Amino acid sequence: MSAMRQLDDLSALPVQSEWLNTILKGDCVAALEKLPEKSVDVVFADPPYNLQLDGDLHRPDQSKVDAVDNDWDQFESFGAYDAFTRAWLLAVRRVLKPNGTIWVIGSYHNIFRVGATMQDLGFWILNDVVWRKTNPMPNFRGRRFQNAHETLIWASRDQKGKGYTFNYEALKASNDDIQMRSDWLFPICTGGERLKDGNGNKLHPTQKPEALLARIMMASTKPGDVVLDPFFGSGTTGAVAKRLGRNFVGVEREQAYIDAAQERIAMVTPLDDADLGTMTSKRAEPRVAFVSLIDTGMMKPGTILYDSRKRWAAKVRADGTLSIGDKAGSIHRIGAEVQGLDACNGWTFWHYERNGGLTQIDELRRIVRVGMECAGA
Ligand SMILES: C[S@@+](CC[C@H](N)C(=O)[O-])C[C@H]1O[C@@H](n2cnc3c(N)ncnc32)[C@H](O)[C@@H]1O
Repeated sequence: MSAMRQLDDLSALPVQSEWLNTILKGDCVAALEKLPEKSVDVVFADPPYNLQLDGDLHRPDQSKVDAVDNDWDQFESFGAYDAFTRAWLLAVRRVLKPNGTIWVIGSYHNIFRVGATMQDLGFWILNDVVWRKTNPMPNFRGRRFQNAHETLIWASRDQKGKGYTFNYEALKASNDDIQMRSDWLFPICTGGERLKDGNGNKLHPTQKPEALLARIMMASTKPGDVVLDPFFGSGTTGAVAKRLGRNFVGVEREQAYIDAAQERIAMVTPLDDADLGTMTSKRAEPRVAFVSLIDTGMMKPGTILYDSRKRWAAKVRADGTLSIGDKAGSIHRIGAEVQGLDACNGWTFWHYERNGGLTQIDELRRIVRVGMECAGA
């Protein structure tokens, strides 16, 4: 991964090495025009929330709440915010690969408008994820519920967007072998992770926790992928991408945030490749037909296959089906029928005799897969 740079001169950037792991300075709609189309794998966008704050907010002790009142979060009307949303979503859609996905985070102030625009533009929503905050700010006026979460929308580029990355097995394994749910619990960014300016104040009002970005990248990217963040802020996306062996490209308007992000990312040490392996989903692995074991000579027609306790025995036929008595069918169908079930994974159900014991035929499938990968299949 190359050293981090800032790009001010935004002439066209057709060559990836010119913009990979850099921050483009300027308005994201204009800056993204310079990138080639279909050049990024995943987008993470944390756009202005359009918080519509009406005057200062005070705690019961009259101290002022450090709310997001920056110019970049101000829009004249909902219409102006919608036009802005449409423009940046179109810009990121052009540079997103057809099998890419996009994450957008927001609050009740903006996320419903953003979601509707995403659907209007052809993005296909895969999930909304609730980030539940373990340490949310209280509701000081006591007139509403405490606002304790933010919402993320995860969408593919198109309705028919196939082959997007979702590391289902790895997420499940990391979650005590239980499917990862769409409600995530993380603290807001505090303590040593929170960047401070020279006066000890928050450097950026909406710095996101690294754990949130890490979950997103571990779920939807592979090592080496390119993650685009069009609202880079303090560079959380860049810092996490570098640590996790992913590439990034960020866009940010404010020089102070760019400087802080550059310094932050420079301090990050990437994890070793060996620690970055992602457990692959079986569905992502190349498909192997049972008959290819016969085609490759790994299994001879006439071989007898057994279940693990040798309750059933079926014969392999030359056409890649199994027969048992007067029944014939696929390894899955025959496995299901002998057990009286609707479905069965024949690869793990059937075994062959080897060295005096039984070995799952899935072992042979693994060997075929390795051969396919070596051949670049
Ligand atoms: C909600 S903050 C993102 C914070 C970031 N995720 C982090 O963890 O630090 C939005 C950022 O977008 C920037 N911004 C606002 N409008 C922009 C635009 N049109 N183009 C580029 N950046 C913009 C703001 O300066 C601000 O830093």
